[in-house]
Amino acid sequence: MDVKVSAAKQVRGSVRTAGDKSISHRYAMLAGMAEGTSEFENFSTSADCASTLGCMEALGAQVRRNGNHVEVDGVAGALQAPTRELDCGNSGSTMRMLSGVVAAQPFTSVMIGDASLSKRPMRRVIEPLEKMGARIESHNGCAPLTIHGAKLHAMEYTPPVASAQVKSCVLLAGLFADGETTVNEPVRTRDHTELALRAFGAEVQRDGNRVSVRGGHLSGANKLRAVKAYVPGDLSSVTFFLCAAAIFPGSNLLVDSVLLNPTRSVVLDVLSGMGLKVNFLKVEEQYGELVGTMQAEGGAFVGGVIRGEQSAALIDELPAIAAVAPYSARGVEIRDAAELRVKESDRIAAVVRNLRAMGAEVEEFPDGMKIPGGQTLRGAKVESFDDHRIAMAFAVAALRAEGETTIGGAEAVAVSFPEFFEALHRVVE
Ligand code: S3P
Repeated sequence: MDVKVSAAKQVRGSVRTAGDKSISHRYAMLAGMAEGTSEFENFSTSADCASTLGCMEALGAQVRRNGNHVEVDGVAGALQAPTRELDCGNSGSTMRMLSGVVAAQPFTSVMIGDASLSKRPMRRVIEPLEKMGARIESHNGCAPLTIHGAKLHAMEYTPPVASAQVKSCVLLAGLFADGETTVNEPVRTRDHTELALRAFGAEVQRDGNRVSVRGGHLSGANKLRAVKAYVPGDLSSVTFFLCAAAIFPGSNLLVDSVLLNPTRSVVLDVLSGMGLKVNFLKVEEQYGELVGTMQAEGGAFVGGVIRGEQSAALIDELPAIAAVAPYSARGVEIRDAAELRVKESDRIAAVVRNLRAMGAEVEEFPDGMKIPGGQTLRGAKVESFDDHRIAMAFAVAALRAEGETTIGGAEAVAVSFPEFFEALHRVVE
């Protein structure tokens, strides 16, 4: 589907997004395994989280859904052997995290995904799960994965890549293992799994970058317990609006009920450093997750350099920042972000192709890109490359271009943010 986006004069109004995708995945998985009925308000409307709910149903959980309100009857630790493939759709989080769960079950599961997911690297989860005792067949390290579950043994693991999905996979497998499973993170990644595990009653310890979970939680008196929770709005989705505000001096956005977990909010520090003014009006906490209301105002958009641990912490937000980088005063350089090449698309190649289609100058590196500032872009035909974040990033870039931009494959936005174009329309003048 093509969507046309015209140049805007200003960005103003309020934004509220459905619940965070990362948290919704974890709540859905743990609720499916827990004892009792969990209830979630503001659950993610993304296709990715619908994939996770579908997989949990295939494993025996009962799911009732009414828009953002989701109820899950858990299986109290006794997942059922699936009678169909576990279809993860486009969702790497579903496949990587749930592989840790099914690897510990006394049955075989087959996990499949769409064309994009079937190209993404899965050795990063196969290797630790095999070390714990599971046997996994794959297509040269990619999906489909046939996971022969086993009684797992606890282990201490240092992932070779900074990945919350890999950490989560090992911790979820560790829930079922004998003893304590520890992950040493090379770089601190989002901690939603740790917080969600605690919310559902598991014992999790953190010491610096070491995080451990006690096994045996799903049997006897130690079953995970159902929770009732509100899922904070998705800050990665809100980022597209913050980038839109950043490129219009005088813009003003009110963002309500958004996730402010410090392992996710680095984007606010970076955009503030680049010129966006951010004020927090209210901050609350639930199950260890911070949620707040903030106001953002555009000023001079200066740009800057993003590298090292900051790139890992901002990995989902980099396409949006890169897409608006030509409008900055001094340009943007992104390094140490090679992981972008193995996301839903090769996000470095996709951003470079689309920026060039809009007439921008950009230099590509294996681990990033350098985008000079002070450029004028022209509306053009760009592509989503079947990647939700690329479609949304270029809808935002289109707001300051001369003329109209057409985004091909715009339906990809449904993977994380089905309401994106309506929400954008509401704040653009
Ligand atoms: C996610 C972790 C990140 C991120 C993805 C969601 C998660 O992936 O890019 O969108 O929910 O744990 P990696 O773990 O591969 O860095």
